[in-house]
Amino acid sequence: MNSTPPHDRLLIIDFGSQVTQLIARRLRELNVYCEIHPFQKVDDAFLARFAPRAIILSGGPASVLDEDAPRPPESVLAAGVPVLGICYGQQVMMQMLGGRVERHGGNAEFGRAFVEPAGAPLDLLKGWFEDGPEQVWMSHGDHVAALAPGFEVFGTSPGAPFAITADPARHFYAVQFHPEVHHTPRGARLLGNFVKLAGFTGDWTMGAYRQEAIRRIREQVGEAHVICGLSGGVDSSVTAVLLHEAIGDQLTCVFVDHGLLRQGEAEEVVSMFRDHYNIRLIAADESERFLTALEGTSDPETKRKTIGRLFIDVFQHYAGRIEGAEFLAQGTLYPDVIESVSFSGGPSVTIKSHHNVGGLPEKMGLKLVEPLRELFKDEVRALGRELGLPASFIGRHPFPGPGLAIRCPGEITREKLDILRKADAIYIDQIRKHGLYDEIWQAFAAILPVRTVGVMGDGRTYDYALALRAVTSVDGMTADYYPFSHEFLSETATRIINEVAGINRVTYDITSKPPGTIEWE
Ligand code: XMP
Repeated sequence: MNSTPPHDRLLIIDFGSQVTQLIARRLRELNVYCEIHPFQKVDDAFLARFAPRAIILSGGPASVLDEDAPRPPESVLAAGVPVLGICYGQQVMMQMLGGRVERHGGNAEFGRAFVEPAGAPLDLLKGWFEDGPEQVWMSHGDHVAALAPGFEVFGTSPGAPFAITADPARHFYAVQFHPEVHHTPRGARLLGNFVKLAGFTGDWTMGAYRQEAIRRIREQVGEAHVICGLSGGVDSSVTAVLLHEAIGDQLTCVFVDHGLLRQGEAEEVVSMFRDHYNIRLIAADESERFLTALEGTSDPETKRKTIGRLFIDVFQHYAGRIEGAEFLAQGTLYPDVIESVSFSGGPSVTIKSHHNVGGLPEKMGLKLVEPLRELFKDEVRALGRELGLPASFIGRHPFPGPGLAIRCPGEITREKLDILRKADAIYIDQIRKHGLYDEIWQAFAAILPVRTVGVMGDGRTYDYALALRAVTSVDGMTADYYPFSHEFLSETATRIINEVAGINRVTYDITSKPPGTIEWE
């Protein structure tokens, strides 16, 4: 944390709600800088250091009536800054200020509810109730039964007579529902009103962030050299360009071609980063080494392990040749580092498991530089745009570290990889031509380990079958297949079979996740 905050900050104290991250998302959309911290970590010293302009207390699964119910320190309510309590946050706030919370007596509320206005107009509710009662999303068992001194009611619902309450003089606001979720359609408006009355000016813009990130990178790195593993994906691409803007030739990127990339991918990365951006780039063509190591392997886990192990060896080899390197750059994002609240034993930290260079910093004695660790994925894209990265890099579908190896079930051969590359390129070309690329989370072809009989012209064929996959998803954790039109599917199948020797049958995978996974292995 910086000793002198460069912009106004809002502190979100997390009590373990499933949707706390959404509060941060909504605020960032309002150009307000905020951080989520678990309640266990917030004490007086922390507050003084953080110096928030406003505080939000999140929802959570606990009951304030339990003996060891989580509480923020008293100083949160004595800091003299606006406070908004949401759901559990509302109840804990009310109890600490002298109100009373009760267990529900049959009027628990879960899901959609409608709030009616009550009392005088309130700045927090500007734009609310213009079309009648407002839909909100409730999820509570306990409820406030008596207000703390100074509080008044400004909104009620059938199950929550104190749905919206406030002590406007002290800028304390408390709502029983969740304004951060989409099911509260005017929730973002309410949060916008809150930050406005707290005095936020919306100074969290990508232009400002870019300058600040550059200053911080220079401060952290000094004269030292930085190594960055570049895959051509959004996160590593933005990391590389940002670092290059900050430290120029003190940065060297390492791009490993493991022979499992898509058509034209290696050339594209080299021409973008070396030729266009003038970034020092080691492009290591190690495809022979990877493909030889994979010969005879058909078990998915063995494939992944072989690739992972070799990747680290190869990366270490090239990185070791860069003189004076002290730092390793990683494209870690904010969702990877938010500490989640655990009631069973202190805060726990969730770390991304897919990092291709995991364990390397310790092994090589390198320190980490992670310039994206405060950003959400769509903010990384916005930063990429700000840095002038072309849309083809920013909007790219995710591509897994093991590459085409896990899109080639069974044994991997050079012949199959060649066929797959050609078919995949046609499929993606079709998707782009039909203007569907940005509607789809991820689309790719997989070459199946079976040959089937077909007929072309007057002859019989005996070639590979191909599966096309396209899914929609928000985070890759769950997914549904994309509903292409029949015309699109038949046009694409025809093109692939006509243009790619070695394929005589095309299928479309309509499995959702769960029960399937997005990749085939
Ligand atoms: P699954 O197949 O598990 O994939 O539903 C979910 C998302 O993760 C990607 N994926 C990977 N990404 N290294 C990566 O960097 C991997 O080993 C890996 N395996 C799966 C997958 O492409 C999808 O976006």
